[in-house]
Amino acid sequence: MSNFIHSPILSYLMKVFITGANGLLGQAVTSIFTRETDHELILTSVEDSSYLEYGHTYCVLDITEKEDVKKLIYFHEPDVIINCAAYTNVDKCETERELSWRINVDGVKNLIIAAKKIGSKIIHFSTDYIFDGKNGPYDELSKPNPVSFYGREKLASENALVTSDIRFAIIRTLVLYGIGNNVKPNFALWMIDELKNNRPVNIVTDQISNMTMIDDLAYGTLKIAEKDASGIYNISGPDILSRYDFALKLCEVFKYDKNLVKPVTTESLKQPAPRPLKSGLIILKAQSELGFNPMDTLEGLRLLKVQLGY
Ligand SMILES: NC(=O)c1ccc[n+]([C@@H]2O[C@H](COP(=O)([O-])OP(=O)(O)OC[C@H]3O[C@@H](n4cnc5c(N)ncnc54)[C@H](OP(=O)(O)O)[C@@H]3O)[C@@H](O)[C@H]2O)c1
Repeated sequence: MSNFIHSPILSYLMKVFITGANGLLGQAVTSIFTRETDHELILTSVEDSSYLEYGHTYCVLDITEKEDVKKLIYFHEPDVIINCAAYTNVDKCETERELSWRINVDGVKNLIIAAKKIGSKIIHFSTDYIFDGKNGPYDELSKPNPVSFYGREKLASENALVTSDIRFAIIRTLVLYGIGNNVKPNFALWMIDELKNNRPVNIVTDQISNMTMIDDLAYGTLKIAEKDASGIYNISGPDILSRYDFALKLCEVFKYDKNLVKPVTTESLKQPAPRPLKSGLIILKAQSELGFNPMDTLEGLRLLKVQLGY
């Protein structure tokens, strides 16, 4: 848990502009910056109000609205823009192609245009879904080959940053779990909800990857902001395992009946978006360059249990 012994790296204060601040990651990033730093935060998201009742400036911002994005960013002149806004339903991206592209790609381009004018840096989030899952785990130099429309969108958003001449960091991450106010159910929360009510869950044995405790991802984001790191970084939990094995560990920690976890194949689920199967991210670069030290699966799940008050 040495991640959470934070020694400030920066001696100056930054103005940090967070988009999608009401989402799972947006809340976790807001929380760690608030707890660990004195940087000024400007929170924005599509909803009328912030998940926080007080504490920071909040503005409504839809990142697809180019003029609104420019106006707000020119007004606040942030040092760093952390883009937590996204269309994250992977299956719906297959059918809602226009809408999801507008958010996941054009929205990022709008941020780039505004950032360029005032010299802000952008920290953006991408995914292992930019890979085909034939030969993971992947490092930052591995060749992308997305198999889903969501994966193509996230790769296009990466390319927009890489080909811009602004300062940027891209954080690739995967399978987030953790808590937040009114957030969409993530893999772990969904399983907990089913298993605590003794309902069986079908969990795939053939999707292999790291899982990421949201607190660790937020901490990695803080490190990147404060060290002014740029380029691509993989940030996730350290263990690479199947979703099925993760479910069994969850049962171990939460004391649920392991027999409720039924092994199935991805093929049998008939999900609209194809998934990379043998995936995973190698986090050596973040560990060595940033001192990123994430919780292992059991530590992450134990923390989740405490956070849920179980
Ligand atoms: N979740 C994962 O397992 C995972 C894995 C790999 C990478 N990532 C990446 O991590 C980032 C954060 O994901 P997350 O799990 O925190 O997602 P999330 O909980 O869905 O948060 C995204 C937030 O963005 C908001 N949003 C949607 N459209 C917007 C727009 N046009 N303008 C401004 N805000 C908008 C959403 O509002 P509404 O809820 O009202 O739509 C939501 O509050 C994303 O870039 C995602 O691609 C996530």
